[in-house]
Amino acid sequence: MSIQNEDRNIPNRRRLTGREDFDGLTRAEPTLPGPAYVDPVHHAKELERIFYRHWIFLCHASTLQTPRAFRSFTIGRQGIFLVRDDDGTLRAFHNSCRHRGSALCLESSGAFSKPLIRCPYHQWAYALDGRLVATSSLAEAPDFDREDYPLHAVHVREWRGCVFVCLGDDPPTLEETFERGSERIDNWPLETLVVGHTWQKVMACNWKVFWENFNECLHCPNIHPELCDLVPIYGRRISQVRDDPHWRNYGDSTDPKHAGGLKPGAESWSVDGSALEPGFSGLTEEEIARGQTYFVSLPSVFIAAHKDYMRAVRVLPLDVETTQIEVEWLFLPETLFSDGFDMKNITDFTILVMEQDAAASEMNQIGLRSQKYDHGVLMPEEHHVKAFHDWVTSAMGG
Ligand code: FES
Ligand SMILES: [Fe+2]
Repeated sequence: MSIQNEDRNIPNRRRLTGREDFDGLTRAEPTLPGPAYVDPVHHAKELERIFYRHWIFLCHASTLQTPRAFRSFTIGRQGIFLVRDDDGTLRAFHNSCRHRGSALCLESSGAFSKPLIRCPYHQWAYALDGRLVATSSLAEAPDFDREDYPLHAVHVREWRGCVFVCLGDDPPTLEETFERGSERIDNWPLETLVVGHTWQKVMACNWKVFWENFNECLHCPNIHPELCDLVPIYGRRISQVRDDPHWRNYGDSTDPKHAGGLKPGAESWSVDGSALEPGFSGLTEEEIARGQTYFVSLPSVFIAAHKDYMRAVRVLPLDVETTQIEVEWLFLPETLFSDGFDMKNITDFTILVMEQDAAASEMNQIGLRSQKYDHGVLMPEEHHVKAFHDWVTSAMGG
């Protein structure tokens, strides 16, 4: 049977009317316009209005615990670095010297050997709180005052062990941004976990393409066979029970294809489906059975929570068609340092899935360059993509 004939046989089951108990879209919504994915001028506006104004996740604080530890990051075109001072205070600065603008931190991470940040160009030195404490000149001009040249500080917050920065002068409140919806992961001990493994990838796609792909499972069966085996409902191209307009027909079915959750015998997201011991002690039975719980803080991070570990996935644009992701796997210290701990059983599974998503996103980006692509259209299952588009549109000012 040809595809066309199959389509002709099923038109009525695809016609959706508004139903309160169905989460999917009931109208064919347009996507964002094509230039939003490829136009450098539009991208520059997105950086200004989104990435330089909102709270942006950078990393889990366990990677910056020791005094003088630093990490550097790039948000759009802005270099930022974090440093833990000798009193334990975490500070964030623009990575730009006040003399003639050189980058200060060239390495992505490390620890300063002294409580000083020394510019690699002409050796100006700053205290860890940003004060300029020395220049390298034989004499300083009489009207030169070191107090006028501290490092430019960046707003920084530690929230449940996660480090967020805001480049704007007037950061939004926490409730407005990264805390919203976080009650979903209240029962996970996020702040006490430690990063056991980190993985980075630079993808040839616009940052929104990554988020759109994250927000739908219409692609799952053909892109993620292994994931669909572990999470059977994904194999039906949906991510939750009420994405199916006929979900009531399955009544009290416990088949994970309809009810959600992991396949029989699997306990967590890992190569063999096994979970680490000990798991998190504060979770409800429903949270354990669900297999995965997500918390999203746009535009920069989603946190996936499983019964035995968590993952923070950071998304930062490098340019209009280049996006960097960094994954931090988070574990209880007693799990991470236990005998027989098998990191690869955990990380190989999610790296496989993320590589598949990266390839799909890059494939999507290639087609988005078409001069004929003015916009696309969303299908009912893509309601989370619609919500993401609404968020972007609102953040851009309508
Ligand atoms: S640019 Fe930093 S000391 Fe000259
Ligand atoms: Fe995916």
